[in-house]
Amino acid sequence: MGNDDKLIASLEAFLNNDVETLKGNIEKLIKDYSRKSRRLDKIIHQSDKQQRELLELNEELERTYAELDEYKNHLEEKVEEGISEIKGLNVEIEETQKEVVFTMGAIGESRSKETGNHVKRVAEYSKILALACGMDEDEAEMLKQASPMHDIGKIAIPDAILNKPGRFDEDEFEHMKRHAELGYEMLRHSPRTLLKAAATVAYEHHEKWAGGGYPRNIQGEDIHIYGRITAVADVFDALGSDRCYKKAWDDEKIFALFKEERGKQFDPKLIDLFFENLNAILDVREKYRDLFTETPLNG
Ligand SMILES: [Fe+2]
Ligand SMILES: [Fe+2]
Repeated sequence: MGNDDKLIASLEAFLNNDVETLKGNIEKLIKDYSRKSRRLDKIIHQSDKQQRELLELNEELERTYAELDEYKNHLEEKVEEGISEIKGLNVEIEETQKEVVFTMGAIGESRSKETGNHVKRVAEYSKILALACGMDEDEAEMLKQASPMHDIGKIAIPDAILNKPGRFDEDEFEHMKRHAELGYEMLRHSPRTLLKAAATVAYEHHEKWAGGGYPRNIQGEDIHIYGRITAVADVFDALGSDRCYKKAWDDEKIFALFKEERGKQFDPKLIDLFFENLNAILDVREKYRDLFTETPLNG
């Protein structure tokens, strides 16, 4: 073998060797690649799974939200139903209370042969005066409900005195006067604002602004405004109606008395307000006028 041949042989050997190395390297690279790509596949597969799980979880959450929303709406509905039921019950309780109070007043008045409309008119006049002297709507409404009870104490006064035609003698009058205190005693123990107001009205509706009234003979603003207002309303209506012992007065005579008693029997401010609101007061009188049914003669 010549030198050239040797060179070629060693070159080949070198090249062969390199090719082998290269082949080995390439094989390693391929293996490495396929291992990595398998890992990648695995990772992609895993993340796909996680994504699906996430989506499912999201759907589940949305369903839960929807359920919660429905539940909330249902709950709101139930709460609203409950509230309106309570409101309804409250209205019923208030209406019942009003009716009971009104009926008690009517019983008191019927004992002295007043008409049912007397208490209605007194109630309305009281509210007009209450609003006119600055009371708010709620309080004025309460006084409207309480004032019909001013004479509730009369249920404890004997018929013979209550329905006596003509004037009372001194004893009878003293007896009659007790209705104010008796009414107060009947009502004063109640914790209800309305009945407490009614107790005050019963107690103080015969007191006089300048003194001289009963049962306590108190004066001026010592007399509760409820008592002062009911006094004007009650006397105005009583004078304008027929009673077993007298005929109704005409308006001019009543107005003259009111002017005369301004600052004496009655709170002067209330008399002024009475005249300022006379139209409204006369409208009430007209609306609740007493109707007397005539008995037809032989059909
Ligand atoms: Fe009275
Ligand atoms: Fe009365």
